[in-house]
Amino acid sequence: MHLNAARYAGFNTTAIHAGQDPDPLTGAVIPPIYQTSTFVQDGINVLRSGHEYSRGSNPTRNGFETQLAALEHGAAGFAFASGLAAEDALLRALLRPGDHIVLGGDGYGGTNRLVNHLLGPWGVANTAVDITDLAAVAAAIRPGETALLWVETPSNPLLQIADLAGWAALAHDAGALLVVDNTFASPYLQRPLDLGADVVVHSTTKYIGGHSDVLGGAVVVADTDFRGKALAEAVGYQQFAGGAVAGPQDCYLAARGLKTLGLRMERHDSNALALAEWLRDQPGIAEVLYPGLPEHPGHELAARQMSGFGGIISLRFAAGEAAPAHLPSPRSCSRSPSASVGSNHWSVTARR
Ligand SMILES: Cc1ncc(COP(=O)(O)O)c(C=O)c1O
Repeated sequence: MHLNAARYAGFNTTAIHAGQDPDPLTGAVIPPIYQTSTFVQDGINVLRSGHEYSRGSNPTRNGFETQLAALEHGAAGFAFASGLAAEDALLRALLRPGDHIVLGGDGYGGTNRLVNHLLGPWGVANTAVDITDLAAVAAAIRPGETALLWVETPSNPLLQIADLAGWAALAHDAGALLVVDNTFASPYLQRPLDLGADVVVHSTTKYIGGHSDVLGGAVVVADTDFRGKALAEAVGYQQFAGGAVAGPQDCYLAARGLKTLGLRMERHDSNALALAEWLRDQPGIAEVLYPGLPEHPGHELAARQMSGFGGIISLRFAAGEAAPAHLPSPRSCSRSPSASVGSNHWSVTARR
């Protein structure tokens, strides 16, 4: 066990209780799934419990948002219909035409597609950088134009490690915000807001949901202002006005998954290390990319800023794309290009 569990003492208790109070009406220990579009009013604009219409607020969604924000040490959380819906809402809440983003060069392809193909035509430029090279990050910043720095660490798919405190300092020196996609680490292994980031995004489809039965995304913000507005206000308004909210059933599943995140991450982490050490010695494998291995270039940094190294391993095969024939094909291993990273199933994907 190489996890630094002491660093996150109390995590599991928070995961179970934050935002998850028993139902005030019936005392149900597990907050119900408020599967309703609308809430009755006791008079014109006399709201019974603060809720009016589920796009604006819904108790099941709000409970999950509070739970995740507490675990990320954020000021507020916002749940969306998918990870990309969360990213899109965040970007449109904060950016305007003429802005520039410094974007991690290794990162989820869908984020790249969103930034280049959807935001590009609306006048938002970006520069991709090597996430491990702070000098390259500094050089890519355009004073007066760069509004956001966006990075994933560990990154998908190469599992590179970015120095989050260093990225945050560069962002703030330029008057920009640092956004961190924390999907691969999860709040159990890494808390970017504690390291200086301003915003965390998640595909809750992955470790937070944890069972391959729900699609979702989330944004968690620090108590920070940007362009004269609190981040929570800007993202909350975008969530309400843009409407890409997560439904109550999905929030219930994500909240339930989040309660066992700590236990699952410990097992993912120890399994991944054992597997990475085994794979390293197999013929036909050119390189095992896993930050838990001491030879990984980001190992020392990951050990400092994370409490474990995560459950994802990337491989380079000596023969190129073809996997060595002698490698066992794990039972229930999905070889589909749509990964279920973070679930209790195996998942194998190929990058072409
Ligand atoms: C790191 C990362 N961020 C964001 C996303 C997008 O999330 P979703 O598929 O829930 O839209 C993914 C999906 O694989 C991902 O791996």
